[in-house]
Amino acid sequence: MKKIESAAELNFLPIIGPKKGALLADKIRKTKPCHVLEVGTLIGYSAILMGKELNGDSEIVTIEIHREEAEQAGENISNAFIKPKIKIITGNAIEVIPTLLGKFDFTFIDAEKTEYLQYLKLAEPILERGTIVFADNAGVFAEQMQDYLSYVGNSGNYKSRYVQVGDDGVEISVKL
Ligand SMILES: C[S@@+](CC[C@H](N)C(=O)[O-])C[C@H]1O[C@@H](n2cnc3c(N)ncnc32)[C@H](O)[C@@H]1O
Repeated sequence: MKKIESAAELNFLPIIGPKKGALLADKIRKTKPCHVLEVGTLIGYSAILMGKELNGDSEIVTIEIHREEAEQAGENISNAFIKPKIKIITGNAIEVIPTLLGKFDFTFIDAEKTEYLQYLKLAEPILERGTIVFADNAGVFAEQMQDYLSYVGNSGNYKSRYVQVGDDGVEISVKL
């Protein structure tokens, strides 16, 4: 993880980082999901972070639009020797999510900020009741995510709260 953090800093890669990452890891540790959906893999930092908290009977499906990043993520993930299976799908989450089979009980959204609501609505049919939807950058990109934040806050479909972490924050929503 330290290696990826250094590489990310050097190359200005927007990984979730250790502070918000600790909160994400804590949520995973406490809820022990079996099927995690991640939107926005980049080079695999957050997938590894979540995977470190899970056992071999869990699975993480992570979607990345850029092939080069997805390949780098594959390398980083195999070097991390974590227990759960991690499946990287290269493609646009808007096209990929409707093709996913099975149900998910945890979702981490961290891709194009103006598309969060689309990802969530497309994923809703395959999210179990009680699924935690953890959305990154709800502080610094609140404006771009306004439709998303309004939906999870006001639709009645989620119990949702904002958690400030340093200069940014995350929106943590539970599907009702
Ligand atoms: C903030 S980074 C993800 C960081 C990663 N979750 C982490 O913390 O290590 C966002 C990633 O989402 C990808 N992305 C953007 N739009 C996407 C889309 N529509 N479908 C899939 N991936 C997308 C970008 O290429 C980028 O790699």
